[in-house]
Amino acid sequence: MRIYLSLVLIFFTTDSLSLNHNIVGTIKKSSIKTTQFNEGKALYLKNCASCHKKNLSGQINWDAKLDKDGHRLAPPMNGDGHTWHHDDSTLFYITKYGLGRYVKNYKGKMGGFSDKLTDNQIKNVLAYVKSYWPEKKYRYQLKLNER
Ligand code: HEC
Repeated sequence: MRIYLSLVLIFFTTDSLSLNHNIVGTIKKSSIKTTQFNEGKALYLKNCASCHKKNLSGQINWDAKLDKDGHRLAPPMNGDGHTWHHDDSTLFYITKYGLGRYVKNYKGKMGGFSDKLTDNQIKNVLAYVKSYWPEKKYRYQLKLNER
């Protein structure tokens, strides 16, 4: 229950704090076999898969258990979980600066990639991630960007 509540808190906070949408713009899913898909995939496998898993399924029991340090486990990026409830600027800034950008005194495992990935590379990773989402969730998430 405690985990559930803190997750809700994060999702609420990040949604209400999304900043600078105009800079990020809308991130469309990449279609398979494009350069963007291939680059996004390679970058995802190198930088994200160790936690979010190769098939984007997240860590086992991500929504119920904590890791050995008492931190939350990595959620799925494949359209299960909550990722598709965040607009593009929120996804972008979580990836760029980590959850610490949104959660005061954050001590969990989702750090930022601003020193490893360029803005364009982050967008390509997210476009790759979106290619996994079922069409309905993808369409829903795109609408969040219009708010
Ligand atoms: C060291 C492990 C680790 C790596 C590597 C990692 N993440 Fe995470 N990520 C997490 C954890 C753990 C969470 C959940 C954070 C929390 O609730 O404390 C998370 C959460 C997120 C979220 C918020 C998801 C949601 O559903 O609200 C996004 C977006 C995200 N990660 C994107 C990425 C991307 C993109 C990469 C690669 C560039 C990446 N992460 C690499 C561990 C990691």
